[in-house]
Amino acid sequence: MQPFYVTTPIFYVNDKPHLGTAYCTIMADVLKRYHQLFGEETLYLTGTDEHGQKVQQAAEKRGIPPLQHCDEMAENFRVTWAELDISNDIFFRTTSPVHAEVVQACLQKLFDRGEIYADTYEGWYSVSEEIFFTEKELVDGKSPSGKPVSKIQEKNYFFRMSKYQQALIDHIQAHPQFILPDFRKNEVLGFLRQPLGDLCISRPKARLSWGIEIPFDKDYVTYVWFDALLNYATAVGLEQPERSADFAKWWTNSGPLHLIGKDILTTHCVYWTTMLLALGLKLPRQIFATGWILNKDNAKMSKSEGEVVSPIAIRDLFGLDELRYFLTREIHLGNDAPFSVALVEGRVNSELANNLGNLLSRSTNLVEKFFGGRKPPLMDDDDASSALKKKTLELPALVKKEIESLRPSYALEHIVLVLTEANRYMEDKAPWKLAKTDLPAAGHVLATTLEVLRITGALLAPVMTKKIPQLQARLGVGASSWSDLQKWPFIKDGAAVAKGEPLFPRLTHSVK
Ligand code: MSP
Repeated sequence: MQPFYVTTPIFYVNDKPHLGTAYCTIMADVLKRYHQLFGEETLYLTGTDEHGQKVQQAAEKRGIPPLQHCDEMAENFRVTWAELDISNDIFFRTTSPVHAEVVQACLQKLFDRGEIYADTYEGWYSVSEEIFFTEKELVDGKSPSGKPVSKIQEKNYFFRMSKYQQALIDHIQAHPQFILPDFRKNEVLGFLRQPLGDLCISRPKARLSWGIEIPFDKDYVTYVWFDALLNYATAVGLEQPERSADFAKWWTNSGPLHLIGKDILTTHCVYWTTMLLALGLKLPRQIFATGWILNKDNAKMSKSEGEVVSPIAIRDLFGLDELRYFLTREIHLGNDAPFSVALVEGRVNSELANNLGNLLSRSTNLVEKFFGGRKPPLMDDDDASSALKKKTLELPALVKKEIESLRPSYALEHIVLVLTEANRYMEDKAPWKLAKTDLPAAGHVLATTLEVLRITGALLAPVMTKKIPQLQARLGVGASSWSDLQKWPFIKDGAAVAKGEPLFPRLTHSVK
């Protein structure tokens, strides 16, 4: 089985984590945990992007050395991700000494092979995006995304990106799943219809000192994107001979799924891929661009655009599982999405409180009332029971397919539909009435809903890391392996089943 390696972008340390940056991090976590449930070996990389002008300026503004600023900000990210139950295996910082060595080794290699050359550059530079633009690319005197630019002329080093244009187009066309969603792939192919220039990969120290020194010219540091993108490979052992087995396993034989935001599509799909081609390294397995979490004004949530929402404040308001569920279920991965308290409550109340929570409360209360809190045995299936059983047993494969296609919202939708059916089944069978005339038949109904809860619960565990273990404890089972999800029944007859407080109390903040 191929191992699963997933990455998030590494975050600039000029800003604290907010719901927008947490989104990608939570989605990568959900995907990793699903692949773990499928029985795969997994690796999850995230971290911080600590060089460049923005960071230098942020530290200057605070009047402290850049590394001290980075240490503090990286810690902010690390702590926030832990609070959101992010299970990253590596937290990578681009200021780590090994990274500087790897970046320099790559630069030297490319320079020695003539893939990097010096030239004098004249162009327009956007500080906030750290990108050069040509005159032609400007829109109303600003960068294409509307950021201010200033004219700059200087000697710099250039990577022969243009040389790889056709090879990249060929790769994208030969691998239809390489860039997703499809409309983003088309955007990249559209971009590649224009002649591709070479990439300026240096910055003179006179203008910017906070970066990795260019190994063949000590007056320059490395362009922050060239440094940052390499994190994905440094983290798994690139140019570290003692880690060659790691690198073969995670890079050469598997390859990363890069989950990124749509604003950094070009840097990943064009800069990074051509860098890899020039270095003779394998291209990533997949690049998937998510949309944005929007703020109240329907713009990208970010500090520079105004108000941001703290993911910790949202967790405190609703609960962590509720937040993770909302983000996974509400947003079709790839699309932009508004965020509001009312939207979270709508989702949580209808699908977690009323649907999943209701089925759990009813089932466990009735087992307590009529069977002394012990799981009753299954009897022969009638039509309704066997239909529900069939749907439930088909669910794991459906969920797996959706997750592998990067459609987690649809995976959850399948689960919700089965839970809705199970509630309907419970309603139709009315075991609270049936128990008075045919106790074993009522037991059968409850044993059936408990198995539905076990399987749906296990399939929701990658999303809801806190409450699903509680649900499983109440059913008398632990975490499931993938093969357990094909067993029916799995819960032992007579196992202790516990009723308890509602797992998902109804949320009412928006009506206060
Ligand atoms: N440092 C670069 C990435 C380098 S990767 C080698 C960077 N950092 S960032 O901190 O500005 O953004 C990191 C990611 O967060 C980007 O993918 C960006 O799209 C994402 N998001 C930032 N705000 C967001 C929203 N409001 N909504 C969704 N994602 C958002 O770019």
